[in-house]
Amino acid sequence: MVRVSRFGQRIAVVSGIGQVMDDLGAALSEIEDILMLGGGNPAHIPEVQQHFRASMEELLGNGREFERAIGNYDPPQGNKQFIEAVSASLRDELGWDIKPENIALTTGSQSAFFILFNIFGGVFEDGTTKKILFPLAPEYIGYCDVGLTADLFIATKPDIRHVDNHIFKYYVDFDRINITDEIGAVCISRPTNPTGNVLTDSEVEKLSELARANNIPLIIDNAYGAPFPGIIFTEANPIWNENTIVCMSLSKLGLPATRTGIVIANEEIIAMISRTNAVMSLAPGGMGAAMATGLIRDGKIIDLSRNVIKPFYQKRVQQALELVLEELDGVDFHVHKPEGAFFLWLWFPNLPITDMQLYERLKERKVLVVPGCYFFPGLKEPWRHKNECIRVNYAQDEKTVTAGMKIIAEEVKRAYNAA
Ligand SMILES: Cc1ncc(COP(=O)(O)O)c(C=O)c1O
Repeated sequence: MVRVSRFGQRIAVVSGIGQVMDDLGAALSEIEDILMLGGGNPAHIPEVQQHFRASMEELLGNGREFERAIGNYDPPQGNKQFIEAVSASLRDELGWDIKPENIALTTGSQSAFFILFNIFGGVFEDGTTKKILFPLAPEYIGYCDVGLTADLFIATKPDIRHVDNHIFKYYVDFDRINITDEIGAVCISRPTNPTGNVLTDSEVEKLSELARANNIPLIIDNAYGAPFPGIIFTEANPIWNENTIVCMSLSKLGLPATRTGIVIANEEIIAMISRTNAVMSLAPGGMGAAMATGLIRDGKIIDLSRNVIKPFYQKRVQQALELVLEELDGVDFHVHKPEGAFFLWLWFPNLPITDMQLYERLKERKVLVVPGCYFFPGLKEPWRHKNECIRVNYAQDEKTVTAGMKIIAEEVKRAYNAA
């Protein structure tokens, strides 16, 4: 066994989540006919993919453009033309007062969180230690392991409100939020992975005010939000100001393989992201930018987001919700109101088995979901709810989702009936 440093131990040695992710990947390649409702892949939407194909063909057919795109490093801040196009698009669409100096690219937005969380959390020069606060647990599984120091995260339990017998929604419980000197930044995903929650404008405004009053940034993970990919089904006002860091991505549009993350922040923070890019990877990859610049410049990305991507997922979520209500009829279950992203968050109160046991039983029946307990980074207190939920991705084809949901319902009923 190789001996590794604390850093190596933390980042390179298998963690619980790493194991589940490996499990998902292995199952996908090794088990035939697997019903994959587990990962974070976006749907393959032919009308959207056609545009990506066309922009690749244009790149190839247009003089030396392809050779330029692959033959040079971009600056550490990222591709200049792409950044200019994104800046103009966000100014026009959302009215944000930004310029290219407010944008940096990263290798997927995942690496932006790695950089930001470790810049604003961890050990400071004066010896104090700061944490990143997730004001509304559950939160995105991908945050769990990015801390270079132990206990980088702290999270707050939500206020749970029932909309009807089967639909509920989490709200930030402001009575529980206490921003002490120990907090270095606040972070939310909006829409939230895994729940599909969209924090209300008033919640975001309040968090923004709290962050500003405490002189710490508010990080908003906008991987699914407006204006692209726009997988958001409620009215929600996207905010940005000098104290807010918005992270976006080309992944959920259908380009996860290009690994293109976009950070919008004040100039000082953008300069820090650029310098970290230079250290970690010299420059962010440029192919996503090369493929998407034209589509952003001419407004096509916004048009596709509004008229193809959002309606696609909106139809899918309605079908998935109807399916869940039908299949789980007779079971005392709850599903989070799906307001965005492409997951259903199912909650089975007093489930006689844990979410991990349910995950294992489903895997045996060739259905992959993600156990809920992994979506509570920073929430250490025991809470039964953490083991009563699962996340189901409904972006895959209808047949897969239907077959998978039927098996989920059978296994859940079997667990309740055996008790
Ligand atoms: C909420 C959220 N944030 C960030 C990411 C990271 O995406 P990427 O690194 O592909 O931009 C994901 C991916 O699933 C996500 O769901």
